[in-house]
Amino acid sequence: MIKQAIIPLAGLGTRLLPLTSVFAKELLPINGKPGIEYILDECVQAGIKEIIFIISDKKKMIKDYFYNDRFYKKIIKKKKDKRILEEYRKILKYKKMIKFVYQNKPLGTGDAVLKTKRFIKDKFFLMLLPDDLIIKKNCSKSMMAIHKKHNSSVMASMIVNKKDVSRWGIYKLSKKISKNDFIIKDVVEKPSIKNSPSNRAVIGRYILPRKIFSKLLKLKPGKGGEIHITDAIQSLIKEKEKFIAHNFLGKYLDCGSMNGYIKSSLEISKLWNYAW
Ligand code: UTP
Repeated sequence: MIKQAIIPLAGLGTRLLPLTSVFAKELLPINGKPGIEYILDECVQAGIKEIIFIISDKKKMIKDYFYNDRFYKKIIKKKKDKRILEEYRKILKYKKMIKFVYQNKPLGTGDAVLKTKRFIKDKFFLMLLPDDLIIKKNCSKSMMAIHKKHNSSVMASMIVNKKDVSRWGIYKLSKKISKNDFIIKDVVEKPSIKNSPSNRAVIGRYILPRKIFSKLLKLKPGKGGEIHITDAIQSLIKEKEKFIAHNFLGKYLDCGSMNGYIKSSLEISKLWNYAW
């Protein structure tokens, strides 16, 4: 049973400038609710008990969002507003589950993951990239069921347009194990169209083995001079670690780009009575 999740939040969010010049993109509202809360709800509903946030000094406002007790207590006392009380209770519930670690230099997702090494207790843990929202079906929960069945690593995946492969980690499949699940043979970070092994992309949900930390410790910077989690995964796959790609059934919303961010609010507002 996977109990811990990690969420890298220490990136600069340059694609959402100017919004991110003073604001953490993960707190930007998506249909009136901070994006990070959708991710937290996905974790809670999947049965995760502890969540590790990787933030930076520049993104301290993410921690402040969960540690604003004095302000809430004062307002609640003064206003006696039931809605505010409920919102505060929700934040308290999240706060109990969250630990914070710091990555003050954004050297890449792999480096961000490495910062959580001393907190990960079990053989496997979940990682969620908060720019990737998946709605209508809880992707983490489905992946945890696959992990339980195969006792292996799992990554969320979807077919992307061939001309867009250089935006993603792209994998080559070795065999199909069920309608939506495949054993991965290789994975490459942001390949060129010419060198791409397929148009099957890895999306921001990963069940990773703790042994990935020993790979990350030795990893050299890759594409764009960053330390990528994909490169550590590639090296584990080369050593015959089993990774399953799961074509998730929910709807993918890319909140990391301006177009995608705007669209995600519209999509969620269309859902009547939004729930998994
Ligand atoms: P991205 O590279 O896609 O997003 O990282 P970014 O860096 O935040 O934004 P852009 O590309 O400049 O617009 C994917 C996730 O990994 C985190 C980011 O916060 C994001 O959630 N990340 C990235 C880190 O925590 N540390 C890093 O060094 C890099």
